[in-house]
Amino acid sequence: MNPRSVIEIAYIVAAVLFCIGIKMLSSPDTARRGNLVSAVGMLLAVVATLLAGGLHYQWILAGIVIGSAVGAFAARTVQMTAMPQMVALFNGFGGLASLLVGWSEYHAHRPETFGFTVVAVALTVIIGAVTFSGSLVAYGKLAERLPGRPIIFKAQHLVSAAVLVLIILAAGAFSLRPAASYPAFLLMAAAALILGVLSTIPIGGADMPVVICLLNSYSGLAACAAGFVIRNNVLIVSGSLVGASGLILTNIMCKAMNRSLTNVLFGGFGAARTKKSGYQGDVRPITPEDTYYLLEAARSVVFVPGYGMAAAQAQHVVRELGELLAANGTDVKYAIHPVAGRMPGHMNVLLAEANVPYEQLVEPEDVNPIMDTIDVAIVIGANDVVNPAARDDEESPLYGMPIIEVDRARTCIVLKRSLNPGFSGVDNPLFFKENTRMLFGDAKASISALVAEFKD
Ligand code: TAP
Repeated sequence: MNPRSVIEIAYIVAAVLFCIGIKMLSSPDTARRGNLVSAVGMLLAVVATLLAGGLHYQWILAGIVIGSAVGAFAARTVQMTAMPQMVALFNGFGGLASLLVGWSEYHAHRPETFGFTVVAVALTVIIGAVTFSGSLVAYGKLAERLPGRPIIFKAQHLVSAAVLVLIILAAGAFSLRPAASYPAFLLMAAAALILGVLSTIPIGGADMPVVICLLNSYSGLAACAAGFVIRNNVLIVSGSLVGASGLILTNIMCKAMNRSLTNVLFGGFGAARTKKSGYQGDVRPITPEDTYYLLEAARSVVFVPGYGMAAAQAQHVVRELGELLAANGTDVKYAIHPVAGRMPGHMNVLLAEANVPYEQLVEPEDVNPIMDTIDVAIVIGANDVVNPAARDDEESPLYGMPIIEVDRARTCIVLKRSLNPGFSGVDNPLFFKENTRMLFGDAKASISALVAEFKD
């Protein structure tokens, strides 16, 4: 068998391992092994590529050394709470890598005429650039270095459309006469970078989950296009897998928020969010001691975690409280909203890390129908995903987004530090409801105090 065939077979085996690994990720019992299976597939793909020959190994070695050093530094220093923005940055670098591959291939081969490779180069550069700059904006919003609210200016749609037309024209000019159109190539790349920014800044508030999934999908598509440029089958397969799974996730997020993709991308959600909705009423604070009495007598308790649980790193004490309640004969559930936190599956990851039994996790559509029968709903640093205005107030920017209806439980206890709004910036009338009690303070400190009460 010739060496090329061996490498292609290794790529096929790697692609099969990716698919099996992804399939195994769909259940918590097999997820760890699934991750390992995919990682083995990736190792195989990398080794096969390195053995393919014709490479400048000194540059690859330099890349490995520098990349590993940066990666190791980041892994040691980045806080767990900064993971969402780190993931956004990773997506962006995936796009940048594809852009650079397309760019360097153009220089390496200097194609003379229109053809498949030229179109693939143009697509790689465009999608890679949009992914890179769009992800940088998403990073800025998640890290709160940029305002979370939509940034909108006059005639924004018009400007974006003009930039898109410019990209198409520049890509056309480049594709038809690639050797003589380097300025068109550069114009295309620069305009695509601008389009990435323009298409991400008007999205704010609760719509960020959709954008993050979409950028993730773009990074896969960029890698897939790069695979066509360098004619590497395993890159085409892995890029397609990321692209397709990102699109599926985007669809799930759109459904979770009851919004269409067009509406998210062009709706300018939350533009009016600075206008306070002005919910008013009495706030009823509660102490950990009184909360303990309520919980001690409760037959059913639902925990609803949100971003604040991640910020407080309260997942371990939450699991401990859940165990104490279960030992007390209480039925305990954890209701997880798909967009809770700051990245897809954020709450699932944290609760799995704390060893919360998977059977106790429920989805909003499972728990909402029985919410009237729940004695106590404990909201741990969640806000937007339990905002009843999304159900009741047609004026609210959140209107139409399905929520976990904690306000229908017999008692709802909200753990947070203030009455401030959540990521969307939309005020929450839940805090003023008759059956709501506010347990103010850091979520970890409040839950630890409850655990201490139980142990006493
Ligand atoms: P949010 O609505 O963002 O509310 C989180 C709440 O946690 C805040 O109101 C904050 O109130 C509280 N908090 C922060 N630190 C805390 C601490 N140490 N102890 C106790 N409470 C603390 O969270 P959510 O309900 O999970 O909703 C997620 C939001 O983020 C949605 O709008 C969603 O669209 C958006 N988003 C989601 C994603 C993904 S993919 N999941 C990505 C980007 C954006 P205080 O300041 O008063 O404590």
